Amino acid sequence: MLLFFYGEHMENYHKLPEVDLGKYKLRTLLKKDATDFFVMGKDEETTSFLTWGPFKTLKEAKNMIKFTYFRRLGRKEPIGYAIIDTETDKLIGTIEFHTFNRKENSAEIGYVLYRPYWNQGIMTNCLKAVTEVGFNALKLDRIIIKHIKENASSQKVILKAGYKQIDFLKQHFFHPKTQRFHDVYMYEKIRRTYDK
Ligand SMILES: CC(C)(COP(=O)(O)OP(=O)(O)OC[C@H]1O[C@@H](n2cnc3c(N)ncnc32)[C@H](O)[C@@H]1OP(=O)(O)O)[C@@H](O)C(=O)NCCC(=O)NCCS
Repeated sequence: MLLFFYGEHMENYHKLPEVDLGKYKLRTLLKKDATDFFVMGKDEETTSFLTWGPFKTLKEAKNMIKFTYFRRLGRKEPIGYAIIDTETDKLIGTIEFHTFNRKENSAEIGYVLYRPYWNQGIMTNCLKAVTEVGFNALKLDRIIIKHIKENASSQKVILKAGYKQIDFLKQHFFHPKTQRFHDVYMYEKIRRTYDK
């Protein structure tokens, strides 16, 4: 894995280090990824647990890149990573930091992978790599991940990447797609115990 680290806390938020994972790489999401992002995001199963999608038009994908991802720059937060298949040079997923808490120097990680690529260990590798970026490049003290109870594959990814469950929030999240409340599992990694 190729990583280079920034010394200063969040100063280089706008240029996350590129991460080489062999068949895949992580690089900052770009406007030109919109078509691939649309192809992934129009798939109903890929987006079934997510609050957004399935996209009906390319414009929706472009707007999400513009208003969700690029808007982060205005808050001095990183845009987020595109997961790129190095053979085709196409986006096959995204993984990003969101919900920054400056007071406790923490952020949450979210991710999605296009369905044809599921169950090959890709997101587990990406999550491990992005966790390293969070601690080493962004200098976060704590990284949090959540999933709704029904999302068993996301739970596997989080546990395989070594996160520790810290909470179970009963009927915590109202999902716009199911129109009901879901139980939420919450996990963390802490800098001081990282790699111990
Ligand atoms: C969740 C997601 C990112 C997983 O990515 P992935 O690259 O397929 O994950 P991995 O291959 O690293 O690991 C998936 C694990 O879940 C397991 N799995 C898959 N479907 C499962 C299911 N229905 N029930 C239980 N386990 C399941 C796989 O067998 C694998 O475990 P294993 O390595 O022990 O065999 C992908 O399914 C996805 O993008 N889903 C939609 C978006 C989403 O849910 N994002 C997360 C929101 S919290």
